[in-house]
Parts: sequence; structure tokens; C-alpha cells
Amino acid sequence: MKGIILAGGSATRLFPLSKAISKQIMPIYDKPMIYYPLSTLMLAGIREVLVISTPRDLPMFRELLCGGEQLGMKFEYIIQGKPNGLAEAFILGEKFLNGEDAALVLGDNIFYGQGFSSMLKEASESVAKCGACIFGYFVKDPRAYGVVEFDAAGKVVSLEEKPAEPKSNYAVPGLYFYDNTVCQKARSLKPSTRGELEITDLNRLYLEEQSLKVALFGRGFAWLDTGNADSMLDASNFVETIQKRQGFYISCIEEIAWRNRWISTQQLQALGESLNKTDYGMYLLELCK
Ligand code: G1P
Repeated sequence: MKGIILAGGSATRLFPLSKAISKQIMPIYDKPMIYYPLSTLMLAGIREVLVISTPRDLPMFRELLCGGEQLGMKFEYIIQGKPNGLAEAFILGEKFLNGEDAALVLGDNIFYGQGFSSMLKEASESVAKCGACIFGYFVKDPRAYGVVEFDAAGKVVSLEEKPAEPKSNYAVPGLYFYDNTVCQKARSLKPSTRGELEITDLNRLYLEEQSLKVALFGRGFAWLDTGNADSMLDASNFVETIQKRQGFYISCIEEIAWRNRWISTQQLQALGESLNKTDYGMYLLELCK
């Protein structure tokens, strides 16, 4: 399975913050936002990742993440010329995926909680059997999201994108696992009324084929998004609180690469040293002891 991070868009809700730089490169507490979704893919065991962004922002992601060797990974980069929708990732990424199954994560989605790694492993393994696996998360106001409706038996009955009157409180987070029919399905989509290839329409194709699984994150799990200044600050405060309390870093990509045995302790040490004596660099050096 290969991974795609979609880090495009113009983030107009964050202006003037995002007028000159990508939202997904901005800090969530002590690391660039894109570290969080990248760590999600890494926890799913994915080593080959395509980063999709705008012509303006892609060079900055390349400068930040390079070719991926430093993490025992491989990164590729491709431009999304216009904000044509999330599902376009699978048209742009078709060559990169080269017939493999795919996980897509949005560059501004942050996931944190006990049992996450095993849910990710289950999701990536399940696509071979069931086609697609997406998630559901209870939120007070789901109107800004894709919304999934269940019947009394827990079976998915509908999926809607940003409904004015949501049929449930279950929002669909920006993390999706698909089998290798996803590119062909994405190519069959027509733009929505807002002119985008909608991820919800793609998920609906799997639902119609009865090949969509929706796994639920429980209430003890955190899914945060970062669409405006308040939610970015909330996410930063959340990360700071947990990190300071435990001393473990959230979404530390170098640590995950090391724990996955994709890099050696020696390589982790070198990464720590290259970060000078920042808290982040010192954390990496501590792990090597
Ligand atoms: C997108 C999707 C939506 C999903 C959300 C998760 O919305 O279209 O279905 O629930 O991401 O973050 P956007 O945030 O791009 O408006």
C-alpha cells in the first residue's frame, strides 16, 4: 500500500496567515502541520508517500521532507494546478500508485489516541477484502464535513458532503483507505455543484458496490482539524498539554521511523544532532540512549 498526503488549497479562512504560505507548513505547537498526517501514514506502515500541493507551496514541502531517505522512506511530489477536489488525488497519483492500494490523508487532519496503530493496520488490511475503509467520528456539529448515516443495525445507509441538515452526528475524517480500483473510480466522477471531484462521491461509489467499511473512532479518541485560527490554537494546546505531561512527543516522524525499524539508532542520533539543541532535537537524542 502507498500513501498520499493532500496539502493543497488556499486556506482562505486563515487569511492573512495563509496569504503567502501553505497552511499545512504552519506550526501545530512544535512541528509543521504536515508531520501529523505523515505520521498517520507511517503508523499504518506506509513507506512510499506522494505529497500533492499547489505550484506555489510544493517546493517548500520538498525542502522540508526531501526524498524521504532520512526516514527510511520514499517521498514523491506532484502539483495540483487547481483546487479541483480531494478525489483528484487519485487521478494525479495514478502513476505513483502503479496499481497498488492507497491511503489518502488530508494535510490538515490530526489523529491521536490509544489503539490508533492497530486500527490503521486493520484498515489497510481490510481493503483487500472489502474495497474501502473510511472512518466515522461523533462531533457536535458535523455540517462542515462529510456525514455518514447508519441504520438501526449499524449498516451505512447514506453519505453526504456538508449537509445543511445532517442525518447523524458522525463526521467522516480526512483519512481514507482504498483498493486499487480507486483511480478508475475517481476518473468516473463528475464535478459537484462547487466544481470539485468530491471524496464523498468517491466513497458513495464504494457504498453502492457494498464495498465500503466505516470504522468508528470512540469518544476517547481525538480527531482535530485545523481550518481556522481557533482550531489551530486548540490543536497546538492539545499537543503541548499531552507532550508536557508525558514527555513523549506526538507525531514525531523520526521516532516513528526508528520504532518501525526503518532507520537505525545511529541515523536517529544524526537526525537529533542536525536539529541543534532544540527541545525536539534533544528528544531524539534522548531516545538513542
Ligand atoms: C473535506 C471532505 C469532508 C471531510 C473533511 C475532513 O472537507 O470534503 O468530507 O469530512 O475534509 O477534514 P474540507 O475540509 O476539504 O472542506
